[in-house]
Amino acid sequence: MIRLISLIGWLVFATSLVSAQLSTIYWPVNYPNANSPWVVGQKNFLSWITGGGVGIESFDIQLHHWNQTILNGFYPIALRVPMERLSTGRKNFGGELEVDLDSSIPVADGYILVFMNTLHGSVYAKSQKFSILASAPSNYTSADLPTATATATLTGVPNPTQQWALTLNGIDPDATASAATMIAGNAGSGH
Ligand SMILES: *[C@@H]1O[C@H](CO)[C@@H](O)[C@H](O)[C@H]1NC(C)=O
Ligand SMILES: *[C@@H]1O[C@H](CO)[C@@H](O)[C@H](O)[C@H]1NC(C)=O
Repeated sequence: MIRLISLIGWLVFATSLVSAQLSTIYWPVNYPNANSPWVVGQKNFLSWITGGGVGIESFDIQLHHWNQTILNGFYPIALRVPMERLSTGRKNFGGELEVDLDSSIPVADGYILVFMNTLHGSVYAKSQKFSILASAPSNYTSADLPTATATATLTGVPNPTQQWALTLNGIDPDATASAATMIAGNAGSGH
């Protein structure tokens, strides 16, 4: 099932990232950003915040590059990330991950992270463009990662049957959707 979802997502994205609908939900991606790149061989930091009450219970995170010569396909980073309230006592929701990059990841400027429902193609948020560098620049400070942070490790080049680097405990929106369809069908439409 995960393979199938990954394949469908890959096919959808191979053709339509540019035309994907981007929602207007408050959902800033704090790290990485234009000034805080990721570095191959390092423990890299990914963090975001979002407003509560947006009706999204879980989402997926993917790594994309607009130039298919650099990246043909995308990296599936995390599947079913739960929408969780920040532990800092603020009203916002959000989270963070550690992303470890193998040296096979193409080094380039212009990467983006996409927060979305992979099966339906609904895009909730995108990061700023950021760089993945071959080595740490002189002004680089390594990310201060809490030890409990979940880790996704990316290796190789994208391919349609690639597994998610990390699967979290958020609800499966597709299982919920098919259960709802079955109930609706039973309610008298002759299915
Ligand atoms: C580090 O230096 C690069 C190149 O000069 C610059 O683009 C970047 O903004 C700097 N990063 C920080 C965090 O100051
Ligand atoms: C895409 O990347 C390749 C390899 O770096 C480069 O040669 C090409 O010019 C890029 N395409 C565009 C439209 O910039």
